[in-house]
Amino acid sequence: MWAGRHVVLGVSGGIACYKSCFLARRLTEAGARVDVVLTQAAAEFVRPLTFEALTGRPVARSLWEAGGALAHIRLAHEADLIIVAPATAHLVARVAQGLADDILTAVLLARRAPLLIAPAMNDEMYARPETEANLARLRAAGVAQVGPEAGALAEGPSERPGRMSEPATILAHAARLLARGGPLDGRRVVVTAGPTREPLDPVRVITNRSSGRMGFDVAAAAWERGAEVVLIAGPTSLEPPAGPSIRRVDTTAQMEAAVREELPSADLLVMAAAPADYRSVEVASRKRARGEGSLSLTLEPTADILASTRGSRKPGAVIVGFALETGDAVARGRGKLERKDLDLIVINDATEPGAGFEVATNRVTILDREGGERVLPLMDKRAVADAILDLAAARCV
Ligand SMILES: Cc1cc2nc3c(=O)[nH]c(=O)nc-3n(C[C@H](O)[C@H](O)[C@H](O)COP(=O)(O)O)c2cc1C
Repeated sequence: MWAGRHVVLGVSGGIACYKSCFLARRLTEAGARVDVVLTQAAAEFVRPLTFEALTGRPVARSLWEAGGALAHIRLAHEADLIIVAPATAHLVARVAQGLADDILTAVLLARRAPLLIAPAMNDEMYARPETEANLARLRAAGVAQVGPEAGALAEGPSERPGRMSEPATILAHAARLLARGGPLDGRRVVVTAGPTREPLDPVRVITNRSSGRMGFDVAAAAWERGAEVVLIAGPTSLEPPAGPSIRRVDTTAQMEAAVREELPSADLLVMAAAPADYRSVEVASRKRARGEGSLSLTLEPTADILASTRGSRKPGAVIVGFALETGDAVARGRGKLERKDLDLIVINDATEPGAGFEVATNRVTILDREGGERVLPLMDKRAVADAILDLAAARCV
């Protein structure tokens, strides 16, 4: 996504400047060429040297000394994307008025690339009608905005927005802007994630060790590619990704009902969840005490969600299943792909180190309906998510 992309990161003079250092770092690590442009006030908060060291590139801070004449035009025209984070009240006002009185505003006025701003300011400044009007004007001109959010400000906690969005959130919005016109832009993607749990009594459940990480990463990656994403999540303690709308479910029956509801409008379904395969035939209405002696459970299979919702699929929808096996994974995965009428199946072997549940990495093989087989190396789950979406997006025609 970011490799080879040229990003201009404009930084204006707010206390959130320190977070822009992380942003510059993350973009550079992801492979982008990052040119930082500072206002004079921003340079009071963070020295240009810091950004130079983080990006490995010179920092522009004045119209009169920035690597020669017309540097602002070169930056404006070469950029694939411009991000301004933080965008102060003053910067927003200047851009809304079309001013070009320093190098950052000159770059912004001459821009050809999409612009994302991350406002950050005192909550009173943000609530002021002047600021509101300036931001509305920029949005009407096609400028994308992320945040601000409520939470801790330099002067103390606030219930009202003002705080700059976190770098990870800004990056997700920036990626989405870059993905405009791509194969998943505007598509509806439904992703299931995590385990489900089946009650035995009011306090005990049967569940499994799925963390939800794989599905959360697929949902985040699909959203960054421009999709409208619904994430149907079983119980997990993970922080939800910025962007996708989340439907929380508990049991396999609830997950099945949610998939059935969302499926008719889905262009792509990625079933990354590990729903409980069995539930207790009887659910006690009270907690059974240990002193009552040994306990036998009779379990019955839960619904096979992919099979039972097959009739709800939108014609032409791309369906991706997952199969976690403990041996003979490829042959069993191929059988599932055919039986469940899938386009792709992602298989992994829970007995392999670094793969499967409760780890940040995965080693998967992706089978397709035409008989193709791709064996991927051990990768972090976000990279696996991107590999899955590359293949799935190519089928969304
Ligand atoms: C300690 C300190 C923190 C500030 N934080 C903010 C801020 O978060 N948001 C903001 O809009 N202005 C903030 N300001 C005010 C701006 O620095 C001031 O409006 C400046 O003119 C902005 O210039 P620029 O937009 O060209 O960078 C702060 C000022 C100081 C001294």
